[in-house]
Amino acid sequence: MNGKTADVGTPQAKTGAAMVLGGGIGGMEAALSLAESGIKVYLVEGKPSIGGVMSQLDKTFPTNDCAMCTMAPRLVAIGRHKDIEILSMTDVETLEGGPGHFTATLRKRSRFIDEGKCTGCGTCVANCPTRNKVQPLPATAVEVEPRFRDKAREIVERNRGRKGLLMPILQEVNSAFNYLPEDVLSFVSRETGYPLSHIYKVATFYGAFSTVPRGKHLVSVCMGTACYVKGGERLLEKFSDRLEVKVDGTTRDMKFTLKSARCIGCCGLAPAVMIDNVVYGRLSVGDVPKILDKYKGA
Ligand code: FES
Repeated sequence: MNGKTADVGTPQAKTGAAMVLGGGIGGMEAALSLAESGIKVYLVEGKPSIGGVMSQLDKTFPTNDCAMCTMAPRLVAIGRHKDIEILSMTDVETLEGGPGHFTATLRKRSRFIDEGKCTGCGTCVANCPTRNKVQPLPATAVEVEPRFRDKAREIVERNRGRKGLLMPILQEVNSAFNYLPEDVLSFVSRETGYPLSHIYKVATFYGAFSTVPRGKHLVSVCMGTACYVKGGERLLEKFSDRLEVKVDGTTRDMKFTLKSARCIGCCGLAPAVMIDNVVYGRLSVGDVPKILDKYKGA
């Protein structure tokens, strides 16, 4: 649509197209409503993706609702709707005409990638020669603590040559040591060529990874809206009392780490708690001792 014009409706063709400016939550809702009435919609957004400010929020005022839970269904519906065309990184240059007969000229800025092929995996960023020149890999060997050394090398060697090897390596390191030791991450960076900054970006993004030592069992008490209103906070207090640790703390015997999680995806079972990969739902504070007893010998 670079410098082209789009006819968004003529008096002769009243069922023509509509153009919605701005892909925030309001624009998304408007686009969906128009498309549901059978009108072709051009959803124009200047940023690289739709979602607007709401996509950066955790909760919304005043209801404290999970912002992503509100947005995600709309994002999916827009992506799938045959009558909605998203024009991201696009600006309106001119708008002429009147009601029922507007003509807009749009300019779409380049992304410098083939949008049909890009999957957003980020591998090109990790392997960018320009970026790597600015941030050269350390020339000296990385000192890895002896207790991690052999296992870390084995994990890297096993994944070497594999496509998108960073995630599997981090997952294996995390499950082998129960966290991602700093010296092992430097070692992974040197051996794989991924900049350390990128590795930390991934390591700190996913809640399943930890960059500090963690207990053998991870107790995640859900504080999402559904769980919170059904007593999630009392459950968290009970776990904290019973384990004698604060949130984000680890018991002295390194057995449990207590976390407060956002929605863990089981709202129908609220209030819910996840220990490692096991979900316990519809809990009351009285259930906490029984649950923890199951892990006594484990
Ligand atoms: S709010 Fe969704 S599982 Fe707790």
